[in-house]
Amino acid sequence: MSTTHAPELSSAAAAFDIRRTDAPRDDVERAALLESPAFGTVFTDHMARITWTADGGWQDRRVEKHGPLLLDPAAAVLHYGQEIFEGLKAYRHADASVWTFRAHANAARFAASARRLALPELPAEDFLGSIEALVATDAAWVPDGDETSLYLRPFMYASESFLGVRPARAVEYLVIASPVGPYFASGVHPVAIWVAEDFHRAGPGGTGAAKCGGNYAASLLPQQEAYEKGCEQVCFLDAATNTQLEELGGMNVFLVGASGTVTTPALSGTILEGVTRSSVIALLRAAGREVVERSIPLAELRTGLQDGSVAEVFACGTAAVVTPIGRLAGEDFDLTVGDGATGTVTAAVRRELTDIQYGRVPDPHGWMHRLV
Ligand code: COI
Repeated sequence: MSTTHAPELSSAAAAFDIRRTDAPRDDVERAALLESPAFGTVFTDHMARITWTADGGWQDRRVEKHGPLLLDPAAAVLHYGQEIFEGLKAYRHADASVWTFRAHANAARFAASARRLALPELPAEDFLGSIEALVATDAAWVPDGDETSLYLRPFMYASESFLGVRPARAVEYLVIASPVGPYFASGVHPVAIWVAEDFHRAGPGGTGAAKCGGNYAASLLPQQEAYEKGCEQVCFLDAATNTQLEELGGMNVFLVGASGTVTTPALSGTILEGVTRSSVIALLRAAGREVVERSIPLAELRTGLQDGSVAEVFACGTAAVVTPIGRLAGEDFDLTVGDGATGTVTAAVRRELTDIQYGRVPDPHGWMHRLV
């Protein structure tokens, strides 16, 4: 058990009415499920929830049994996709305490996504309180194995039964939790990326910077194409010119030059402002490395991989953490990144980030917050 006392619940978390399921999984079943959880397949016993109506605002904060939702077939989300989500993790430290990483940043991005999708903004204290209340209730589900964590998925959807096209007047906010290991089935190994040249994820003025289901729906056909080409992820180019790297289907992308300089696509309004992206930039800069955020032409990356001026490429995101990219392919090219193995800068920044997240080193940035 933890060597120090768990913190008191905050008043934001205490606002949630805890309605425990009378049929939680027992210790034996939970232990079996926690053994090697594949990403996003196992869920804890409970979920946090708040209901919103245009007339009543946010109400009925509760933690209840994880289970199916009751949804009218006319619910607006099923027709017009008015939905947003977030992804963050709770980490178990060696002393058994449980911590989140930069949850305030996720709360702020959730509010920004809500604005773009004309959904009501959830106050940050409700976002943070829901995470805290759920993790405190399901603390036994936070795994302690190497590279494991409890993935938290807050989301909000238009629940109003109405087929007119306008912002919904009834909305549900929920958080579900899933014990996870590495995102890719291969574990932490270099992955192959397919560059989509016929499809775009987002365009200027669109929803690219928002974390909404529609962006991910738009990525699925090219993602399927990527699988057919033997690649794990798809990389999108900008819709305006079809020449500049944007992001992968579910993660941001970084290049490491042979000179040591790191580059990543600038936040143009069409890519997601990744929390891991900004953390990686901060860690690299703190280590004295130059990091440039700018437009990166695909042609420059292809040339760089051929002449060796690009030494490493990696992806990053909450789910992916920092994942090395070993191969980049498209309709008329197929290139190996360096020697195809994990590069030293990629490995170092991954280690630095996870050392902080798992409490193996002090947290100089104040990114970690103890929950349990
Ligand atoms: C995350 O990294 O949390 C994501 O949202 C990526 C993906 C699993 C959708």
